[in-house]
Amino acid sequence: MVPYYPVNDFGPVMKGMVIGGIGIVHVFLAQFAIGGGMLLWYFEKKHRDEPDARAFVDGFFQVLVLVSFVLGALTGVAMWFVTIQVGARTIGLMIDRFHWLWATEWVCFSVEVAAGYAFVRAGKRLPDRARLGLLALYAVASWGSLFWINGILSWQLTPGHGTSVWAGFFNPSFWPSLLYRTCVAMALAALAACVVINTMDLPRERRAALIRRASHLAAPMAAMPLLALWYLAVIPEDSRAWLLGGSMAMTMFVGIAAGASLLIGGYAVIGLLGKHLYVNGATATLLLALAFGATAAGEFVREGARKPYTVRGQLYSTSIAPDEVAHLREVGVTADDPYPLRDAARYPTAQLARGAKVERSLCDACHTMHGANALVELTRSLSDDQLRLDVAKLQKTKNFMPPFAGDADDVEAVVQLIRWETAGAPHTWPETTTAGEIARWLDEAGTR
Ligand code: HEC
Repeated sequence: MVPYYPVNDFGPVMKGMVIGGIGIVHVFLAQFAIGGGMLLWYFEKKHRDEPDARAFVDGFFQVLVLVSFVLGALTGVAMWFVTIQVGARTIGLMIDRFHWLWATEWVCFSVEVAAGYAFVRAGKRLPDRARLGLLALYAVASWGSLFWINGILSWQLTPGHGTSVWAGFFNPSFWPSLLYRTCVAMALAALAACVVINTMDLPRERRAALIRRASHLAAPMAAMPLLALWYLAVIPEDSRAWLLGGSMAMTMFVGIAAGASLLIGGYAVIGLLGKHLYVNGATATLLLALAFGATAAGEFVREGARKPYTVRGQLYSTSIAPDEVAHLREVGVTADDPYPLRDAARYPTAQLARGAKVERSLCDACHTMHGANALVELTRSLSDDQLRLDVAKLQKTKNFMPPFAGDADDVEAVVQLIRWETAGAPHTWPETTTAGEIARWLDEAGTR
């Protein structure tokens, strides 16, 4: 039997956008914390040559702790709360497969928090060796958490072959995405450091010396174009085709991410490292904001490229597995759905109520009725039969939609629901009988 989970509804916002929105903030903060750890260790190691480095470490750390611990931890917990509300089955699959590896990631995170907290409380009183050791622990643990989570997340798009834990973990996009994210983390820390250095009460030359040191961490950005190409080369053929023109929305986001990264990288590598330019607080903040934009665009692309799956080949975005589609074609998608509609009284006929359940199970992951990616707007110009055909052959209509996982009556019900919503949800609506063509169209489209 296909498991059903209660799902929440976020109104005009698509579910994917809620999780994506929180995810982007979380990823940005987490990557900043990882780069921050490396940067602090690097400064602490050099503090004998540069006396101001120590003042920076003690100052920057408070910023890092406040921003990345508090907000990072809050958004991290928020991710779990949203995930179980919109994709319980996906997260369940990931936890089943990577149980102990995920536990290891959490251990890394705990060590990171403990080391960071110890440094804040006792750092100023500790001898040099202990300070350096604590920062090294902090840096290694935070990068370690990236190492582990990266394997789990990259597996969603490129699960590789077989069912072993390690084959899944070291999947085809593991290395390019780990190295890419490491470069991003270091660059973010360098930019944030430039902002903080500008707030320090020092003469300009001494701030410039600190900025030069911080900008060393932006040097790996030079490798990012190559890592991005490597990533593109290992992702599935159809995902790559969307990024490179097949889906204009995604192509534009790729362009924004690449363009913004190139501008930041160019400024950092040529301006800061090559020409020793001084970057003031306003410019550094602007660059950091640009980096946030690049992160957001990049994460959007990574999530979008996975459609119609949340785990490629194993689970569709609708939380239905590919080999369950044939069964649902027979029994319909609403037969075993135990959850009532939230506002059942709204629907004047049983067919419309059924349509609402079909929409909730099969469309709601990526569409809303009237808001983002609105079904009403996408279908307004279609004739009734065109709409029936489009829904029955869903995976042929757009290849980022999964095959329709219900029977012919489900198709008719969801078509009527969309029409009824388009008409402004009137109090009466005729019940229709399901035409024979729908079953034929479903058969023609197949369940793959
Ligand atoms: C995995 C995500 C996903 C699922 C699930 C999904 N869709 Fe879509 N659908 C999309 C995307 C993305 C588009 C493209 C929107 C655009 O072109 O702007 C789309 C487009 C459409 C279109 C317009 C097609 C066209 O020719 O422009 C229709 C109609 C549609 N979807 C209906 C449905 C219905 C009905 C369901 C549920 C039975 C559904 N979709 C399930 C992602 C999805």
